[in-house]
Amino acid sequence: MSVPFVTPSVLPTASVHPRSTRNRPALAAVLVAALAFGTTALAQSPGYTYTPDVGQAGKDVVWVPTPQPVVDKMLELANITPKDTVLDLGSGDGRTVITAAKRGVKAHGVEYNPDMAALARANADKEGVSKMATFQTADLFEIDLSQATVITMFLLPTINERLRPKLLELPAGTRVVSNSFPMGDWKPDRSETVSQGCSNYCTALMWVVPAKAAGTWQLDGQRLTLKQSFQNLEGTLGTNAISDAKLEGKKIAFTSNGIRYEGMVEGNAMTGTAGGGKSWSARKS
Ligand SMILES: C[S@@+](CC[C@H](N)C(=O)[O-])C[C@H]1O[C@@H](n2cnc3c(N)ncnc32)[C@H](O)[C@@H]1O
Repeated sequence: MSVPFVTPSVLPTASVHPRSTRNRPALAAVLVAALAFGTTALAQSPGYTYTPDVGQAGKDVVWVPTPQPVVDKMLELANITPKDTVLDLGSGDGRTVITAAKRGVKAHGVEYNPDMAALARANADKEGVSKMATFQTADLFEIDLSQATVITMFLLPTINERLRPKLLELPAGTRVVSNSFPMGDWKPDRSETVSQGCSNYCTALMWVVPAKAAGTWQLDGQRLTLKQSFQNLEGTLGTNAISDAKLEGKKIAFTSNGIRYEGMVEGNAMTGTAGGGKSWSARKS
């Protein structure tokens, strides 16, 4: 069952957080590295006393804050605009959500630990962005992801891979950004490592959910056959193999017989231009 995206505090606030035994080695590694961060001084509302410890247990992942320069890089790689809705999975003290909100972008955090969610709300309030930055207490595996156009995370490789099938079913063009951890064999469209102001977990990785382009198409009287692996394509147009073929969200590009085809995939239809000028269209058969 999916928890609606905007339902606040769907879990009991007095819940005990189960410790995962499955991820113990990875968690231990994160914990050791976490100590290198030192304790972050967190701004809190007057009267709010919860102070989290870096490396403290979480349901599936310990809490380690993303260094602020990496938060900035993650949002930069996702190219967020006020048209976006950002969703941070495992939102901790709220820093990614609050940073997006301060840039005029609606953002929402899902956090299992109710104390962390309350702290994030207090931090958003203090920064004056509590209307744009909202938080709910919930399990990230049970949340409905469909309203987000940008999904951010700092989890673990195993959790990213568990989330991957759900992410790949999101609308083409949805951006997924992870601090440091990969998505198995779904390679990032872009990644960048921050060197200033960051000593651990400094790489932002960004994927664009690709359109579904696999199959046989009729392109202006020629048969286009496409095989797809994530954003990568191979296939033939007529009797020629295509090369340098790629999807970025709905955008498709490939070369056939020396001609570069660029276009957009919209369900069972594609339109675009070839060789920079002549229009083409295709339908899935
Ligand atoms: C490594 S911290 C990242 C925090 C924040 N996103 C950041 O980048 O600073 C992971 C967070 O996920 C939370 N968490 C762990 N398992 C979760 C789950 N199943 N659902 C929701 N939150 C979870 C932890 O409590 C912790 O705050």
